[in-house]
Amino acid sequence: MHNDIEKVLITEEEIKAKCQELGRQLTEEYDGKFPLAIGVLKGAMPFMSDILRHVETYIEMDFMDVSSYGGKMRSSGEVKIVKDLNTQVEGRDLLIIEDIIDSGLTLSYLVDLFKYRKARSIKIVTLLDKPSGRTAKIKADIVGFEVPNEFVVGYGLDYEEKYRNLPYIGVLKPRIYGGEEE
Ligand code: PRP
Ligand code: MN
Ligand code: MG
Repeated sequence: MHNDIEKVLITEEEIKAKCQELGRQLTEEYDGKFPLAIGVLKGAMPFMSDILRHVETYIEMDFMDVSSYGGKMRSSGEVKIVKDLNTQVEGRDLLIIEDIIDSGLTLSYLVDLFKYRKARSIKIVTLLDKPSGRTAKIKADIVGFEVPNEFVVGYGLDYEEKYRNLPYIGVLKPRIYGGEEE
């Protein structure tokens, strides 16, 4: 598995330190509140787990699973709910947790949905931001790292459902996804 990785972009240690830093930031932001943390499956799972253990306020957790119609290659902008929340969001302070914002379509759909459901506040924390991919007008409130326009995997991010269990963020060798020869 590690053999499929061309280079490590963000190390396990860097991710750890970042989770601690951002967790402290969230502790201050949500002091005295009881936010609902919403993890976007499946990619956000490792990050959600690691960041929230550094948040020292009451926090509720729930999960949402969405997928784009027609797969990731066609950015139709339409998103389908695969698994909805179990929790009512009306009047709640929401913290959406993502592994990466690329086109922004997933998050702009979710933000619209939660606004419609009358959330009191909506914040987004994402481990990675890839601004070069953006088509929707959406910005995260808290970003861990900005990444270049490369094929990144690991720490929740997959290619064909593989590599989510890597402890770091790496760039995939082009031959793995049928890119140019090395
Ligand atoms: C990936 C990633 C984000 C989304 C970002 O999820 O985890 O949720 O795409 O892309 P966007 O900004 O262009 O919408 P994916 O839909 O691949 O599902 P997964 O998390 O289960 O891998
Ligand atoms: Mn995802
Ligand atoms: Mg994916």
